[in-house]
Amino acid sequence: SRPRVLITRGDIPSPGYKLLHQECELIEWKKSTPIPRSELLSMITGVDGVFCLLTDKIDEEVISSAGPQLKVVATMSVGLDHLDLKSLKERNIKVGYTPDVLTDATAELTVALLLATSRRIIQAEKALRAGEWTSWSPTWMCGPGLAGSIVGIVGLGRIGARVAEYLYPFRVSKILYSSRSEKSAAAAFKGQRVPLDQLLAESDFVIVTIAQTPETRGMFNEEAFGKMKKSSIFINVSRGEIVDQDALVKVLKNRGIRAAGLDVMTPEPIPLDHELLKLDNCVLLPHIGSASTEVREQMSVITANNILAVLKGNPESMPSPLKMQ
Ligand code: GLV
Ligand code: GLV
Repeated sequence: SRPRVLITRGDIPSPGYKLLHQECELIEWKKSTPIPRSELLSMITGVDGVFCLLTDKIDEEVISSAGPQLKVVATMSVGLDHLDLKSLKERNIKVGYTPDVLTDATAELTVALLLATSRRIIQAEKALRAGEWTSWSPTWMCGPGLAGSIVGIVGLGRIGARVAEYLYPFRVSKILYSSRSEKSAAAAFKGQRVPLDQLLAESDFVIVTIAQTPETRGMFNEEAFGKMKKSSIFINVSRGEIVDQDALVKVLKNRGIRAAGLDVMTPEPIPLDHELLKLDNCVLLPHIGSASTEVREQMSVITANNILAVLKGNPESMPSPLKMQ
């Protein structure tokens, strides 16, 4: 009989969906909203594979509800912080994810968010529509330029390195990065590895691309923001949990830093009455880093293929995060 695969969302891109549909019996949460936890706990029972998203918390309770036949959990994301990797590994359940394919799209969005924040693009467009554009004005809607600036990248992984490569041709004066080890990728943009404190103290733009782990949770707290320049701009495209959000609100209000651009926050979606939405020096995007049409289609295909590879007894062909850690 055909393997049983749970798909936790109704609107996954069709190329990946079709691959699974051809070969598996699908158990589907058919709505385009996240599967409720109670449904996840019951629908996962007895399946061989799971196609999930970063909105699904796959923890010990969920994994044990599945039963011993579960062989693979594949997430349509590069982030893995929503998966209990230890529990999965202990049970020899393979984990699939989608690195590399979304690197360009996410780096591109990071540059767009940085420019939208520094050059106040969203605020300026809103002002035009509100009739606040009275004349070309020498100082209106000014913000810091990239040319000659110091850019600091926190966590020089695939995405961080690509962001740096993209920013280098903007004639920045230098690119700093903080990372546990020297990265050979830094040669392409003459990146200098420095301690985090030095990066925070010197950078005009601080860009967070580091993965969320127990060690990076809350690393941007009051103390970290306190080390940054008053003129600096903070960009986060990784996970909201890396930031102590109350500390960020406070430092933005007090102008302890100039502005922030966030593609990720806590919680997601952010409530519309949240303090962050009241600030004019904060640009907020709804976690769209990888949202290029082609990339999302490719992510769905890779996720489906990761599941099929394991179910057909061929797990070597999928990128394994467990090997890399
Ligand atoms: C997006 O945040 C991802 O992890 O793919
Ligand atoms: C701006 O439009 C300029 O001409 O300087």
